[in-house]
Amino acid sequence: MNEQIAIHQTAWGQLEEVELPNLHSDHATRFFMEFFPFRKGERVAEPGCGSGVLSIAAAMAGAAEVTGIDISSEAIELARRNAKINHQEQIRFLEGSLLEPVAGPLDLVVALLPHKPAPRPFDARYYGGDDGTDLLLAVIEQAGQKLVPGGRLGLYVNSIANPQRVLQEFSRQFAVRLLGEKKRYFTREEFDDLTPGMFTHLENQRRKGAAEFAQDEQGLYFSARLYEGTCL
Ligand SMILES: C[S@@+](CC[C@H](N)C(=O)[O-])C[C@H]1O[C@@H](n2cnc3c(N)ncnc32)[C@H](O)[C@@H]1O
Repeated sequence: MNEQIAIHQTAWGQLEEVELPNLHSDHATRFFMEFFPFRKGERVAEPGCGSGVLSIAAAMAGAAEVTGIDISSEAIELARRNAKINHQEQIRFLEGSLLEPVAGPLDLVVALLPHKPAPRPFDARYYGGDDGTDLLLAVIEQAGQKLVPGGRLGLYVNSIANPQRVLQEFSRQFAVRLLGEKKRYFTREEFDDLTPGMFTHLENQRRKGAAEFAQDEQGLYFSARLYEGTCL
């Protein structure tokens, strides 16, 4: 099988990840681990857990319980393997959509979900609807129902996914603060390779005020932002 082991140095120790060619964490996951203040003793859920890295990080940071959820059975199988090699077999990994399989109450939801805007559905690991917000808005709503008052939602949002709309919905039920922000450079070809016409779609979204990206001497970039919302 074509797999590799990635080693992540985290604030809670070394985290190992078996990576499959189309199933692995990336720069966004590392950004999340670098900036998010996990706390001990929390009941945590991660919708869209993929290979399980953020769920494992939460467990290593001392969570009381962790549940990772993904719509992909392949992701769930890999997340369980990764939990095992990191000696975190107490984590539950469940196949399902967003927070639906979790009863709650929860203290923390961490979400790095697909949210690329595109003119049509494509890869479920990336597609987030016409303006990119389908899953982001749904998880904000579900987290608001399952978190205890004072519970937190850690949400990773790229500025191409209608950031004003996301912040407006997020701020309805949560006190929101920005934990970290960085430029993410991209090319037109990178997006058009994901699905044809994606870059033109993004330009149209920007014209409507539903996407933010710009260009500097290094090229086109959008902003990758990590937010912490505290449930009101
Ligand atoms: C961009 S990947 C991120 C994975 C992981 N959070 C990480 O940081 O590596 C998004 C994941 O969300 C999953 N996903 C897509 N739609 C979903 C849904 N409705 N409910 C749960 N997971 C979903 C995909 O299968 C994929 O594993």
